[in-house]
Amino acid sequence: MTKEEMYKDINKWKKEKNAVILAHYYQDGDIQDIADYVGDSLALAQKAAKTDADIIVFCGVHFMAETAKILSPNKKVLLPVMEAGCVMANMMNEKDIKKYREENPDTIILMYVNSTAACKQYADCCVTSSNALSIIDHYSKLGKKILYGPDKNLGYYAMKNSDVKLDLWHGFCGIHNNLKVSDVKKAKDLHPNALFIAHPECNLDVLNEAAYVGSTKQLIEYVTNSDKDEFIIGTEVGVIHEMKKRNPNKNFYILSDSLRCFEMKLTKLEDLYNCLKDEKNEIIIDENVRNNALKCVDMMLKLSK
Ligand code: 13P
Ligand code: SF4
Repeated sequence: MTKEEMYKDINKWKKEKNAVILAHYYQDGDIQDIADYVGDSLALAQKAAKTDADIIVFCGVHFMAETAKILSPNKKVLLPVMEAGCVMANMMNEKDIKKYREENPDTIILMYVNSTAACKQYADCCVTSSNALSIIDHYSKLGKKILYGPDKNLGYYAMKNSDVKLDLWHGFCGIHNNLKVSDVKKAKDLHPNALFIAHPECNLDVLNEAAYVGSTKQLIEYVTNSDKDEFIIGTEVGVIHEMKKRNPNKNFYILSDSLRCFEMKLTKLEDLYNCLKDEKNEIIIDENVRNNALKCVDMMLKLSK
């Protein structure tokens, strides 16, 4: 089947089934192009909370679809490839965070949205890369100890940008954490007029080299609003699809060829096609777990308005 034939059926089923397709910026371009909405983790969660569709097909990774289900329990939430997980989310497990909560009942637990629903049950509030600094700042005013996890890099970045002291979980994203200052120097030598911008999941040494640090959506908005026309991109290569769409005359250079999220790229257009056709791969969460996890996701949405 051609891409156009698949698009035709997908658009027909979307109407018949009252379905909406949400896609993250790290998905392949042909998936972003057929999605009703493409966004960063926060924008997709906000969209999932508000949609009046009966079916949400979430083209992304497992924790993102789970967040949509936490917020929309009466909707059918489908994930085209069930094995699409997130390496960082898997670096925190329920047993360990439950134990931490029991041993530290007065500590505020702020949890990166890249975490499982089971772990979210023990958090006071969730954060994403776009609201982490402001939410951490909000909680720091309470004068209590704060644990932030699982992404240690975003934690170090938050501490560098404020007076807050955080206890950090030692999780990280394999692809962002692997980037080195020497990669940035090499790219700047090759493209001396380009601005380097990066996602806060990179380590602090790399972030110190960046002209701007932000979520996927914020990075796209930054290059669009900038009067510069060349950028070195320090996040997953998928964002360049939207950057190029919005800015056809600007040039984008990926910092390293390793900036491909294997998990995000598991989903192919055929998977989306079959998933919507057969309404398969439904996300199911135990209702007790969902209710517990909802509190920290709701709190995040309240603090993000
Ligand atoms: P964003 O919230 O910036 O879209 O990031 C999600 C993610 O998984 C980055 O690796
Ligand atoms: Fe997870 Fe890293 Fe992939 Fe983002 S890029 S989904 S943090 S593995």
